Amino acid sequence: MFRIRLVSPPQDEGRQREGGGRSTFREHRMPYIIAEPCINVKDRSCVDVCPVDCIYEGPDMLYIHPDECIDCGACEPECPVTAIFPEEDTPPQWKSFIALNRDIFQSENPPGKPQRKGS
Ligand code: F3S
Ligand code: F3S
Repeated sequence: MFRIRLVSPPQDEGRQREGGGRSTFREHRMPYIIAEPCINVKDRSCVDVCPVDCIYEGPDMLYIHPDECIDCGACEPECPVTAIFPEEDTPPQWKSFIALNRDIFQSENPPGKPQRKGS
């Protein structure tokens, strides 16, 4: 007879994921990053599925903007060379790419908007 739901209403969840409730937390971490396997491959399937267009292109590889990524995870399974990881699951040999995905946007030549693969 008693049903207790311990989940937030969908609209609250949406508001939270758009930044409000997580903004402080997100200043200190990056949900998803692109690592070495992207170098000189640049398949761009990730670009086509990202709902907020937060994947940018540099000369050798693409990067995820840490302040724009909403942590949806849509890009991860699309990459044919498994270059995309949640930050905490990045393989040890590619941990340096966590800082790289953040620092590249502060550099003199930050990555730019890529072309969508399907366009
Ligand atoms: Fe886009 Fe992937 Fe983040 S699809 S929002 S870069 S997790
Ligand atoms: Fe690179 Fe994979 Fe995207 S190769 S451009 S991370 S789909």
